[in-house]
Amino acid sequence: MSADSTPRFVIDDRERGLFRVNREVFVSDEVLDLERRHLFDKAWLYVGHESEISNPNDFHTRQVGGRTVIFTRDRRGVVRVLLNTCRHRGAEVCRERSGNRKIFTCFYHGWAYDNSGALVSVPDSDSYSSGFDRSELGLAQPRVDSYRGFVFATFSQQTQPLLDYLADATHILDQVSDLSDQGMRIVVGTHRYSMRANWKLLMENSVDGYHALTVHQTYFEMMMNLGTTPPGLDGNRAIGRGVELGNGHAVALMPELGSPLMSEEVLLERRQRRAELVAKFGEEHAIRIANMTRNMVLFPNSAIIDLNWGIQVRTMYPIAPGHTEIVGWQLMPEGISEQMQRYRIDNALSFWGPAGLATPDDVEGLEQCQRGFASTNEVAWSDISRGMKKENPAIVDELQMRAFWREWNKQITGESYTFENAPLDTGYIRSGSTATTGGA
Ligand code: FES
Ligand SMILES: [Fe+2]
Repeated sequence: MSADSTPRFVIDDRERGLFRVNREVFVSDEVLDLERRHLFDKAWLYVGHESEISNPNDFHTRQVGGRTVIFTRDRRGVVRVLLNTCRHRGAEVCRERSGNRKIFTCFYHGWAYDNSGALVSVPDSDSYSSGFDRSELGLAQPRVDSYRGFVFATFSQQTQPLLDYLADATHILDQVSDLSDQGMRIVVGTHRYSMRANWKLLMENSVDGYHALTVHQTYFEMMMNLGTTPPGLDGNRAIGRGVELGNGHAVALMPELGSPLMSEEVLLERRQRRAELVAKFGEEHAIRIANMTRNMVLFPNSAIIDLNWGIQVRTMYPIAPGHTEIVGWQLMPEGISEQMQRYRIDNALSFWGPAGLATPDDVEGLEQCQRGFASTNEVAWSDISRGMKKENPAIVDELQMRAFWREWNKQITGESYTFENAPLDTGYIRSGSTATTGGA
């Protein structure tokens, strides 16, 4: 390949089995600007879970695609995402993080909106001309849709419907949601943190099986010292699969990690719940739900990590090329005992928490990468080729990351791509009744 024809951001050489990403994508303001326009202004972005607004008038304010939004269930029960900017002169109309409110009154001049977004009150409205029409000045609302309680929004009218956009990621969302027939809920409380590294490094890391045994050595040693051999480990090698789910979504699947410090009560409840899953779905799907872990990235900037003993939902958003804000929530099945809830929360805190055994180590690794990118002029390309040309890429291979990067490159540059492997992994992700092999 001549220098002139070298692609700017991604080299995807199927013939030689090489995949490279130009480190410019991690440090360039221009690339971040392209991402804002081609990803965050267009894609379906994760907003929250319906369980967070279970009662009418519940709301949370949060950042989605760089905008502040009000995620709320209106008085009639409709889930809404309202852009938190007053139609008068721009102020945020809600300054609280969460609560239960029918009306949002702007702090600046007092315009008031109900939680369906309608402008319901303007102080001294007599001063406006007859051309001033309140009904045209409701809070703006992006397109909103949900799947199994996971709510997404897009700021584009052109983006395909959510179900098409999610592609085979729906099967993984099903597996996560099938855990309880009483539904899933987000635990109250949030992990918010930032890192001095590019947001895409955490997307990679969220499905990266390759780093687990090196970066998280302390965690695995602790598990073994507690007498638990993680079943995800075969000898000293991690086993499992990476699967492309379409549209940049991907998952790393692995037999469940051992669960340390499980009390008799928790063990018993686990066995009971597993038996219920077998009765409801059959053995094959019950294994997927209860005995596999799944690290999934949802393009462009969210991840769901279900390690059986805890489920982390996270989003990441760039403040600058080398600075990312991350928000993490814990998802939990409804209808479980208090001991099981405590067990899951303990695991979540000790693994993903700010002082946990996983998150700080991951962040350290990613910040080291970002510091390494200071030499991008001299060392331009990162290598993400592992497992290319393999028929069955393992969890420690990098297919999952290539799936993300190919879609990223398509959205930024318009270059199209095909799946690396025939999507033959349906047995891993679909229920037995709908499983097919081959085909697009
Ligand atoms: S900016 Fe909201 S009332 Fe003026
Ligand atoms: Fe990690």
